[in-house]
Amino acid sequence: MQSAIDTPLDIQKIRQDFPILDQQVNGRPLVYFDNAATNQKPLPVIHALTRYYEGYNANIHRGIHHLAEQATAAFEASRRAIQEFLNAKHWQEIIFTYGTTDGINLVAQSYGRHFLKEGDEIIISTMEHHSNIVPWQMLCEEKGCILKVIPVNDNGELLLDEYEKLLSEKTKFVSCVHVSNALGTINPVKTIIDKAHAVGAVVLIDGAQASSHLELDVQALDADFYVLSAHKLYGPTGMGVLYGKRAILDAMPPYRGGGEMIKEVTFAKTTYADLPYKFEAGTPNIADVVAVKTALEYMAGLGKEAIAAHEADLLHYATEQLAGLDGLRIIGQAKHKIGVISFVMEGIHHQDIGVILDQQGIAVRTGHHCTMPLMQRFGIAGTTRASFAVYNTRDEVDRLVQGLRRVQKMML
Ligand SMILES: Cc1ncc(COP(=O)(O)O)c(C=O)c1O
Repeated sequence: MQSAIDTPLDIQKIRQDFPILDQQVNGRPLVYFDNAATNQKPLPVIHALTRYYEGYNANIHRGIHHLAEQATAAFEASRRAIQEFLNAKHWQEIIFTYGTTDGINLVAQSYGRHFLKEGDEIIISTMEHHSNIVPWQMLCEEKGCILKVIPVNDNGELLLDEYEKLLSEKTKFVSCVHVSNALGTINPVKTIIDKAHAVGAVVLIDGAQASSHLELDVQALDADFYVLSAHKLYGPTGMGVLYGKRAILDAMPPYRGGGEMIKEVTFAKTTYADLPYKFEAGTPNIADVVAVKTALEYMAGLGKEAIAAHEADLLHYATEQLAGLDGLRIIGQAKHKIGVISFVMEGIHHQDIGVILDQQGIAVRTGHHCTMPLMQRFGIAGTTRASFAVYNTRDEVDRLVQGLRRVQKMML
């Protein structure tokens, strides 16, 4: 049992906001350490969803009746909340998507297909999630562009010197992850953006993992695009955000065609809606968009700095405690990390680790974490990953360590 950590947050009180945590799994209290995959939802977010469906479910923008107006107002209020969260200059720069993957595909298919041509170079990094690799490979196949990859060092940090060598006047696009889901590395995205801009390239930052841990300011970063998923910031699944600079979004053709994204349709010609609606074809995820505002308010209420400090404490404590286990090697020891620990254990397959931990009520992620090229870089098939959120505790880290001792006892 560990002493209370130095945090202004009352973690036990916060845990009461997350009813899912209060359950037994395989006869033991649940320890949820799969937060990088998706984090749990606090009661206010769950209530925002039920309030919407119980009180004002209606399709937005096109209705003039009371419920439609109420739903539209809540939907657009969420856009303003996201604008503030990202410090975007204009509300029109906030496009609702189905998630990070959807946002990256939108940019690759709309910006990429329209503005990139044969021989143009696109730079990504070794630590990208598959969702920031495959859409660019598809584009390269179609357009004849060339994909270049920034390597990482043994600590799981990007090699910026190598990045500089890759940059040239041929570089037209750079797409890089802000925080690695597999390693926890926080990348120096401001530097990456500035260097790309110096050669005239446009930059997308994948903020899927950064959004619930770091203060975000797309204007200070000067990011051209920034994408995130609501389900990783205590919000609902199936909803995400694409931020894009207004001038760039304005110049891009629509991605999907359909209702909502048009001004006028005739069989001879269709004209498109203004931003942001040009990129929001069809009925969106209204309830989830509405609830994401509540998720942002919840996080703001706790204070992002306080959340980050608590998670940093857990990371520090877990790193120390795991070092005491023979044959355990942490993959990703970057200087700047969020609360993610990926590790391998000598002589034990990660899947066995996951199964035996689950038998003890401990949820971790095992496998390649949708970063197969990164695993190849480290010469491994996968890792076991524990990732922390605001409601986790040092006691739960102790449970993990005990659980891993049991794994070793059973498997070695
Ligand atoms: C860094 C990173 N990028 C992209 C994604 C894809 O997010 P989504 O599945 O919500 O589209 C994830 C999800 O784990 C991620 O961690």
